[in-house]
Amino acid sequence: MKKSDIKHSWAEPYKIKMVELLKMTTKQQRIKAIKEAGYNTFLLKSEDVYIDLLTDSGTNAMSDIQWAALMLGDEAYAGSKSYYKLEAAIQKYYGYKYIVPTHQGRAAENILSKILIKKGDVIPGNMYFTTTRLHQELAGGTFTDIIIDEAHDPYSDHPFKGNVDMAKLEKVVKKYGAKKIPYISIATNVNMAGGQPVSMANLKELRAYTKKLGIRIIHDMTRVAENAYFIQQREKGYAKKSIKDIVKEICSLTDGATMSAKKDALVNIGGFMATNEWDVFEEARNMVVVYEGLHTYGGLAGRDMEAIAVGIAESLDDNHQRARIGQVEYLGHKMMEYNVPIVQPIGGHGIFVDAKKFLPHLTQDQFPAQTLAAEVYIDSGVRTMERGIVSAGRKANGENYYPKLELVRFTMPRRVYTQAHMDVIAESVASVYERRNSIKGLKMVYEPKYLRFFQAKFEKL
Ligand code: F0G
Repeated sequence: MKKSDIKHSWAEPYKIKMVELLKMTTKQQRIKAIKEAGYNTFLLKSEDVYIDLLTDSGTNAMSDIQWAALMLGDEAYAGSKSYYKLEAAIQKYYGYKYIVPTHQGRAAENILSKILIKKGDVIPGNMYFTTTRLHQELAGGTFTDIIIDEAHDPYSDHPFKGNVDMAKLEKVVKKYGAKKIPYISIATNVNMAGGQPVSMANLKELRAYTKKLGIRIIHDMTRVAENAYFIQQREKGYAKKSIKDIVKEICSLTDGATMSAKKDALVNIGGFMATNEWDVFEEARNMVVVYEGLHTYGGLAGRDMEAIAVGIAESLDDNHQRARIGQVEYLGHKMMEYNVPIVQPIGGHGIFVDAKKFLPHLTQDQFPAQTLAAEVYIDSGVRTMERGIVSAGRKANGENYYPKLELVRFTMPRRVYTQAHMDVIAESVASVYERRNSIKGLKMVYEPKYLRFFQAKFEKL
């Protein structure tokens, strides 16, 4: 090999100090387990799972420094030192003025939606997220999608599929009027689109437009550092900027945020709501007492707030994100070598397999993504998640949403699995792909009222 042919690959900026042992299962055991779970991977017992890619939420490995920080937790009911450390970290790294801790992201969404949304309001956003939209609806609002069309096309290689289509937004504003729009809901690194980023240019355009009309931008910043990594890699003028600086700039273009710290911030539980408006903060600080706990702990232990404060700083390290997303890209390329259809470009927090194309003989009512997730589990004990018609749920009038994207998400916990695990995952998907024509669909036999994907049950057709 010539010297110039050598490619420098990504690698983890850490080494392993402790391991968690896993149970290995047989195929017969897995067939039984998934049947008992109603072909829903959410209902499997985790001890029956080998490689758990259900979610990147709360499944991260904390660093030795985060574990040490747990010991510093101040468990005072009121005015905990740990709260002030968390507040200082959020102000320093994200730049928001006021913060209210919550036990996780959806609790922040509940409080913020209740404060900002009135009955009949419309909330435009760059694609829905399950819990976010539900809280907007429960508060009396209606979500409307204003993401660019490319986001709904798994094979468009647009570098910023999370972008807002400004023409779609203007149409919504014209139709309902700015007064009916309490805020625009902007997620960085759009989960349901496949972990796709928003560009800084798009955010700047959105800021200029909303400023004129006096409409807020509320930032779902759950994966903001991953979005910043893509801006650094892909957007003109950002190659030499640090992820830290890019994150701060993103936040500066918005008025407030909800955060699930269980993702980017490298912890197992926690979240917060942030705002630059005193009035909104005052109301949130009062409301959190009803739903979560006093405003200086919001449903978290002092030690949890310590771990988040450290995790925020670690998440903004350039080497961390390069390894984090490098691992996801490694898995994606491996699947592509086996011709498995995946969402392009490869996203930040996982690989999204296109179940419609994988199982073209199934109609969407036969739940192709739910089916594929069950088949992959049976093959290798790898647990994934449906992100298609089951996740999309029903409209207020009871009709099913039929989302264009019918995906299985292979979500990567941060700092948890090795490159050999990635190989096992790709090989398992490839072997299911080989026998795809013989795979039958599912029928739903139990459907809960809210967020049905968590608890619905299915049987084989
Ligand atoms: N917003 C986004 C973009 C999310 O991905 C999540 C959670 C939330 C809000 C809610 O936060 O779980 O802390 O209450 N996503 C997880 C997932 C559940 O698997 O994608 P939470």
